[in-house]
Amino acid sequence: MTSADILACLANVIDPDFQRPLAETGAIHDVRVDGNTIQVFLELVQPIHWVAREINSACASAIAQRYPQAEVEIFVRERGLPDAVRSKSLAGVRNLIAVASGKGGVGKSSVAANLAIVMAQKGASVGLLDADIYGPSQPTMYGMAGEGMKAEKTEDGKIIGYPNERYGVKIASIGFVMQRDQAAILRGPMLAGYFTTLVDQMQWGDLDFLVFDLPPGTGDIQLTLTQKIPLTGAVVITTPQEIALADVRRSIQMFRKVNVEVLGVVENMSFFVPPDNLDRRYYIFGRGGGTAVAKEFDVPFLGEIPIDASVREGSDNGFPVALNPDAGAVYDAFQSVASNIVSQIRKRNAAHTSSPVTITI
Ligand SMILES: Nc1ncnc2c1ncn2[C@@H]1O[C@H](COP(=O)(O)OP(=O)(O)OP(=O)(O)O)[C@@H](O)[C@H]1O
Ligand SMILES: [Mg+2]
Repeated sequence: MTSADILACLANVIDPDFQRPLAETGAIHDVRVDGNTIQVFLELVQPIHWVAREINSACASAIAQRYPQAEVEIFVRERGLPDAVRSKSLAGVRNLIAVASGKGGVGKSSVAANLAIVMAQKGASVGLLDADIYGPSQPTMYGMAGEGMKAEKTEDGKIIGYPNERYGVKIASIGFVMQRDQAAILRGPMLAGYFTTLVDQMQWGDLDFLVFDLPPGTGDIQLTLTQKIPLTGAVVITTPQEIALADVRRSIQMFRKVNVEVLGVVENMSFFVPPDNLDRRYYIFGRGGGTAVAKEFDVPFLGEIPIDASVREGSDNGFPVALNPDAGAVYDAFQSVASNIVSQIRKRNAAHTSSPVTITI
């Protein structure tokens, strides 16, 4: 049994996001054989939380098929991103995702809140930045309305802030730093000041994901925010109606203009499942709008989220529905959308990673 034999066993193990064999993606960093013990060192494009276990067990069973008696140890590490030029405060943040929409009220904040929770529950370190200066909703959605934010002055007079934490997610919101209803009367320069506090002075620490809940629209504020932050990509939310789709088009065009990759489109409030007939779906606002607009712009369609009272209740009660596995279809939808987003991020990161290490044994 040699390293080359083990590599041959692994020849057909594929990375599910890239649909290519691990050997081709440069994921097999090293293979060591010592007597009956096999060690495989994998280096996967980050973020790895979704795929690590899956690939790990695929490798283990591929080896076991040929060498059932062997002791197999598989080590997985992340392949870093060489292009990560971040502002100082965001230096430890690996992936920055904007959740945006052209139209208001389509469910951006609900998706952002639940997405952050799904990611945290997968074991990722996650931050949520409520950048909606006019209507910060994350404090309510996370049951933290009225809370303040810890801040301190450094020796050189700089103010630094610390995000609050709930359900394993670090949260910073404009809602923590100003009084209720004050936001609506702020003007441009003041808004910029608040935003600087939230982004440049916040101690996020090391994060796998920082999710931005953007204010609705495609105006100056959104443009400034997306340019100020080194985004990994944007997730655009819509509902199925044509009136929302027109705004999605504007939103995608805005991101393209500033060279931010659109990771895909999520359709929210897609259908209603009556609680007394779980096999039925009513497409109240029409059907297929989200997939059509994704196709039109050649961006991925990331999934449909049903209309479900538990989304609204969860938001109002400070206990987002992603914390409740009994919620059924809507819970599953958030899981699936999150996993599709992470899959797109891995593809995007692969394209930005320097050429993979390939081994010859
Ligand atoms: N899938 C859903 N099922 C039921 N209610 C939903 C769903 N998604 C969002 N809602 C509800 O719709 C309302 C608007 O959602 P949300 O605040 O997330 O939208 P938004 O796009 O962030 O709005 P804004 O543009 O004001 O920031 C909220 O009351 C929310 O609870
Ligand atoms: Mg919102």
